[in-house]
Amino acid sequence: MRLFIAIELPNEIKQRLARMRIDIPGCRWVPSEQIHLTLAFLGEVDDAKLDLLTRVLATINAPGFSLCFNNTGCFPDRRRPRVLWIGLKPEPLLDTLASQVRKAVLACGIPQEDRPFSPHITLARLKVPAPREAEAFLNRPLEQGMPVVDVREFTLFQSILTSQGAVHNPLKVFDLVRSNV
Ligand code: 2AM
Repeated sequence: MRLFIAIELPNEIKQRLARMRIDIPGCRWVPSEQIHLTLAFLGEVDDAKLDLLTRVLATINAPGFSLCFNNTGCFPDRRRPRVLWIGLKPEPLLDTLASQVRKAVLACGIPQEDRPFSPHITLARLKVPAPREAEAFLNRPLEQGMPVVDVREFTLFQSILTSQGAVHNPLKVFDLVRSNV
């Protein structure tokens, strides 16, 4: 099955992020209920490895943290935008979690890209680059008063590809360590 590991966001946040949509030709906006922060993409994984993977992920001992929304951005660059996203203020505990998750995945023999973790929340994918229209999104200020998101868990998702797009199915939720402060 096709798997990825992500931080699920509260519904209120997903709805607020979905309100940033603007009209861009050839742009596919992520359905609001699917908006998430990817920690690791695993791709196709044998069913036989799923049990090992969930056991190894359960050993992760990382503290919870808070996320603050920061900016809009795109991949690969503003001249050829293909992915539009919302970025986050730097949070070392998020980097620690992503690094532990990726190490756990590798320990299960599932390859991971070498690229450094670049935290972002994808809102849209462009089939053909539309730099002028994307610029309007990129120049948009974030909505005032976006709440801070308390992250207390992460989720292993199955992604089922269908002709209508991907369906994301949460398979297992893993708790982070609660801090006493
Ligand atoms: P991103 O949108 O956060 O960049 C579920 O499909 C998630 O896995 C997507 O949101 C995407 O992350 C990531 N993903 C999907 N296909 C991928 C691929 N081929 N390589 C890397 N990450 C991928």
